[in-house]
Amino acid sequence: MSDVPARDREVVAGAIFRGGRLLLAQRTSPPALAGRWELPGGKVEEFETPQAALARELREELAVEVRCGARIGVDVQLSAGLVLRAYRAELVSGEPVALDHAQLAWVDAEELLSMDLVDNDRAWIPELLEELRAL
Ligand code: CDP
Repeated sequence: MSDVPARDREVVAGAIFRGGRLLLAQRTSPPALAGRWELPGGKVEEFETPQAALARELREELAVEVRCGARIGVDVQLSAGLVLRAYRAELVSGEPVALDHAQLAWVDAEELLSMDLVDNDRAWIPELLEELRAL
């Protein structure tokens, strides 16, 4: 047994802001989450940095190239050993399309408050709102 606790596996999610709006994506699965909205992202693979994982996930899910920026909001513990973190993502090229989601939406502060976000992502609402209201 090691004395050093294993580090949590990370799930990364991207906050893309443009023109005073934030990009949200509507999940298609699992059934319990289908129809609800999230910041797009996914699991960091072994030996992958969170930054590289975010770029890969958003390439796969949205067909865009992004540059991963600073963390935003709190850590969300998903389960033992799995933590969800949001990062700013700056669009470098491409126009987001829903390759893996039902649809996409660019929301302003008021709209963000009315969206049916997945529970985990609700933890980031204060920071996302602050950013949208400052834009
Ligand atoms: O695509 P991949 O299997 O790598 O990841 P995922 O299934 O999209 O996300 C892994 C876990 O993180 C799932 O339990 C998602 O519900 C959760 N997640 C979340 O709560 N909020 C997000 N913005 C993204 C993922």
